[in-house]
Amino acid sequence: IEINETRVETKDEKISIEIINDDIHIENKNENVNVDKKDKDQLVDENGKSCSKLKQETGKDKKKPNLQVVERKPAVFVQVNRKSTIQKARLKLPILAEEQQIMETINENPVVILAGETGSGKTTQVPQFLYEAGYALKKMIAITEPRRVAAISMSQRVADEMNLTSKEVSYLIRFEGNVTDETKIKFMTDGVLLKEVQSDFLLRKYSVVILDEAHERSVYTDILIGLLSRIVPLRKKRGDPLKLIIMSATLRLEDFTNNQRLFKITPPVIKVDARQFPVTIHFNKRTNENYLKEAFNKAVKIHTKLPDGGILIFVTGQQEVNTLVRKLRKAFPLRHKDNQSNKNEGDSDSENSDKEIEDDLKQTLKRRKKVKPVPKINLDDYSVPGDNEDLNLEEEINTDSEDEDFGDVNIVSNNQPLWVLPLFSLLPSHKQAEVFKPPPEGCRLCIVSTNVAETSLTIPNIKYVIDTGKTKVKLYDKVTGVTSYIVTWTSKASADQRAGRAGRLGPGHCYRLYSSAVFNDTFQEFSVPEIQQKPVDDLYLQMKCMNIDKVVNFPFPTVPDLLQLQTADKRLEILGALKNSKVTPLGRAISRFPVLPRFGKMLALSHQQNLLPYTICIVAALSVQEVLLETPILQTNSQEVKNIRQKWAAIRRQWAGVGNSLLLGDPMVFLRAVGAAEYANSEGSLEKFCLENGLRQKAITEIRKLRIQLTNEIKTNIPNSDIIVDPKLSPPSDIQAKLLRQIMLAGMGDQVARKIMPEEIKEDQDKTKFKYAYHANNIEEPVFLHQGSVLKKTLPEFVVYQEIYETNKMYMRGVTAIEPEWLPIYVPNACQLSTPLKDPEPKYDSQSDKILCIVSGTFGSQAWPVPNVEIE
Ligand code: CDP
Ligand code: MG
Repeated sequence: IEINETRVETKDEKISIEIINDDIHIENKNENVNVDKKDKDQLVDENGKSCSKLKQETGKDKKKPNLQVVERKPAVFVQVNRKSTIQKARLKLPILAEEQQIMETINENPVVILAGETGSGKTTQVPQFLYEAGYALKKMIAITEPRRVAAISMSQRVADEMNLTSKEVSYLIRFEGNVTDETKIKFMTDGVLLKEVQSDFLLRKYSVVILDEAHERSVYTDILIGLLSRIVPLRKKRGDPLKLIIMSATLRLEDFTNNQRLFKITPPVIKVDARQFPVTIHFNKRTNENYLKEAFNKAVKIHTKLPDGGILIFVTGQQEVNTLVRKLRKAFPLRHKDNQSNKNEGDSDSENSDKEIEDDLKQTLKRRKKVKPVPKINLDDYSVPGDNEDLNLEEEINTDSEDEDFGDVNIVSNNQPLWVLPLFSLLPSHKQAEVFKPPPEGCRLCIVSTNVAETSLTIPNIKYVIDTGKTKVKLYDKVTGVTSYIVTWTSKASADQRAGRAGRLGPGHCYRLYSSAVFNDTFQEFSVPEIQQKPVDDLYLQMKCMNIDKVVNFPFPTVPDLLQLQTADKRLEILGALKNSKVTPLGRAISRFPVLPRFGKMLALSHQQNLLPYTICIVAALSVQEVLLETPILQTNSQEVKNIRQKWAAIRRQWAGVGNSLLLGDPMVFLRAVGAAEYANSEGSLEKFCLENGLRQKAITEIRKLRIQLTNEIKTNIPNSDIIVDPKLSPPSDIQAKLLRQIMLAGMGDQVARKIMPEEIKEDQDKTKFKYAYHANNIEEPVFLHQGSVLKKTLPEFVVYQEIYETNKMYMRGVTAIEPEWLPIYVPNACQLSTPLKDPEPKYDSQSDKILCIVSGTFGSQAWPVPNVEIE
């Protein structure tokens, strides 16, 4: 008999003996027996160590084990009263057939991996299994989702299925939730659970943690797997075991199972088959770069020519979703006509009354016979701010043209109305819920979605999938930390997931808007885990806050680049969030804000200076891409473009103000732009205002949301703080502007640049080329003031910048003027200073009750001299 920690394996295969928690299970071929706890003592070895040896002979002819055999205790069973329709639907899910095996495996193992295709019922059913087995009697069942939309909609769905309320099956995402004291099953985003680990490392509130969608490899889920691999044994030691269930599509499970760093004992994997009908894949013969237009045309064709069945279209982002929804609604108008929500699904909540919609629909259905199959549409007004892609939709849609390859599908002529709905993460939840409802009678459902419909949400009744093959990823430079979004090909694994969505109802079709050659040669097998794709500063800080000293040794499922970790450490030291690689009190304060640490520091410092509304606005504006447009969206001739640019530049200089506020530089432009835009918004003329002043309207809305979020976060972290966000922020005073510059420096102290002086330019170099040139502290090549920077007039000697981007030259963006004597005060960690106690003597200033002394030294790797400065 070989014995390891919890499992006793006999040579006789018919019998296995297992010690689970405090119970000993002896299993032979046909019967399960359970040994009472008191008899467990009989299984200790000479040293009293439990079960290191088992001497009893087992088997029919051998001496019976000297153990009392008792009946298996029935599992605690919590009654759930489901509606019969729900129960019927549940029974059809493949996972129901596996309930017993799943629950046994969970009961008997601390960590279990559950792999099953999307739609097999993992997310909705496993929490219910656990609930019924009594896991929510004393503690909560936690289930994490990488996406906010999934956390909300799944909690609602499970509450519905179980006939419970949102008080019992609740969700918590950052800034929003409905958790109560009665919550039994708690859906949350993985980021939220990670924050909870920070305050209670053992997660004592929970009896089970389910990490859902682990295959998505979100950074937070990855980190949680690493953390929980340590938390589970700790909880066991305390006699308060915690179960961990990792749920995933059947992709790349080896990262979790075949990973010595994670789990000592390889966790068992249960695979659940999904009932999946065959999906026919149709590749395009050619790959047209204008995938939005392709998607539109394909949807039109499917709708007008192919038999009933929902259409699901995958595009890359919210903006594309909105554009395509608008276009399709316009092409097949029904109630959507002139609907406010056409403008912006993300934030317009203007509800058309249901009655109105119904009437409209009735009208549409009445007219249906008369409606031409494909209306001729004017596509001129489809371009939206920020849609840089030339949609090139002038050409008329001509359905009579010889058809593209529909594959082996009956062509019919269909003049049903099309029920077009958007789906993306930021969509308000009541709008998201619409995709799960059946479309109005007589309509065909068409959903335009980002990759949130790829695995996390299963939309019923989809028969046709249109896959653009594209996805949006964030790129960043590991050294400078500059981030940008690019649209690129998704992975083969994702494309297959997308196709699979068409086979839930019956046999389906997936139209890939790219050629099979592109798929075979260009697509990666799997997507790169997020942890290798983004700066880890915030994570690194969070881990340090959890006292994880050696982040390098952390059991990541996929290890981030060493360079990523080192740069993060360095930047956080300069910010003062870490000291000697240990988190400082400032670091803890910073880590509470849901923004990058450098912005968190700005917020933390502003609280002391009463500047929060301004800093919140600046941080929000800096966190949103492309607030100020560089060129007009409507291309006109080059002279006009030049004129418009000049006009915008003049406006921006005006916004930047005079005196100290001008010195605040580019962030000042943001402050004034946002304030003025909000003023215009309150007057109902935001769109016009943005158009005239070169602002991206969407960015203004995003900034507004972010300001509210940050304010709420500060309110929860700092009780009694009574900051009010006045959207129409009045400009700061000169003194406030100066303080804001110091705050900018405090947050961006690792990104200081100094003007290149004439004497530094070599004889043979063209001096005029160095007019706007600076030396960045950590970059060899000269960097330049961006042409739109308001500081081009004043050319301050020292500046900090938000980021550097490279086109033909390296340009600084978001530039603020600073004074060199501020460096030792706000970025002391990047300064080498004279010992203040030596020379001259510090003196006590009785008026301010401070000890002051003069320091001098150098700053940064370039060793710029820091002038003598008096510090406290
Ligand atoms: O997590 P997994 O992908 O394995 O499946 P699930 O999300 O639990 O979904 C199981 C089934 O419930 C699917 O067939 C969905 O279509 C259905 N479902 C639904 O009808 N309405 C929801 N709000 C959520 C799921
Ligand atoms: Mg799921």
